[in-house]
Amino acid sequence: MGTKHNLLALLEQNRGSTVSGQEIARQLGISRAAVGKAAAALRAQGVPLQAVPGGGYSLAPQADVLTAETLRTYLPAPQYPLQVEEETASTNLAAKQWAIQGAPHGSMVVAQRQSGGRGRLGRSFASPGGGLYLSIVLRPGQSGNPVLVTAAAAVAVSRAVQQLCGIQLQIKWVNDLFYNGKKVCGILCEAATNMETGSMEYIVAGIGINYRTPQSAFAPELQPVATSLYPGGQATVPRAQLAAAVHTQLLALFETLDSRDFLPEYRAHSLVLGKQVTVLAQPPYTATAIGINDDAHLLVQTASGQTETLCAGEISIKPQV
Ligand code: BTN
Repeated sequence: MGTKHNLLALLEQNRGSTVSGQEIARQLGISRAAVGKAAAALRAQGVPLQAVPGGGYSLAPQADVLTAETLRTYLPAPQYPLQVEEETASTNLAAKQWAIQGAPHGSMVVAQRQSGGRGRLGRSFASPGGGLYLSIVLRPGQSGNPVLVTAAAAVAVSRAVQQLCGIQLQIKWVNDLFYNGKKVCGILCEAATNMETGSMEYIVAGIGINYRTPQSAFAPELQPVATSLYPGGQATVPRAQLAAAVHTQLLALFETLDSRDFLPEYRAHSLVLGKQVTVLAQPPYTATAIGINDDAHLLVQTASGQTETLCAGEISIKPQV
């Protein structure tokens, strides 16, 4: 990594406080002139780096620089391969291509915007600026249950947001996260199986978080149903830190996926349990969500008193009229 990258990482580690040019030069093993040159180059790239004459350099507390370097400062060792883009068509598409080329377990693609964000059931996923879009390559080996991974991804986001933002999100089975009654995060897990061995080649867990997306950035039809964590832009946690926290949480959950230890947490934050839901089957029907089993399948009780197990599909928490 070059001087510019090292300087950004150092300031990210000390965000909000000023580090003297002398101290930076000492830590990076370079001259003060080289520090000044790297700082100017970063500023020219749009990094909101403040220089106090004779006082040193700092990153503003609300600076939100999303690059591979800032992301690495928040990821614990061992380091994972990263691709960080300002804009891409879809981080899931990029991660799948990367997985096919051999990207190892834990590789992550991150973008600030997507031009062709993919949602579940062939839908698109609005991905305007201010959001955080990431896809993580998982290599499950012999076992691999995409529904459990999806549920684990929801818990990973819920934990990361709680830990960094102090906000408790609610989980709408199976993979949406809600804040103040509106969708704030969508998750799309895509998997490829080796037909000869029957084992899972890879799972790509794609996560889109409306982070400091202004409400006006959503299309009119999404306004009543979508929100973001900081619609007024008042976030103080950089998206690099949030992306790293989601990655760390998901990889930790993945290690013990078969134990299902995370399912009580998934149930505790469920938006649907105990509620009347509409199962969007053909034709749709109403039922009461009564449980989530150990495979993260939803148990519903129909009007006739029968219990049904939903393995996948869509439910709505609003009665269909
Ligand atoms: C849904 O709500 O239907 C799922 C949306 C999943 C969106 C994320 S954003 C990052 C990753 N890349 C994509 O194209 N989709 C997922």
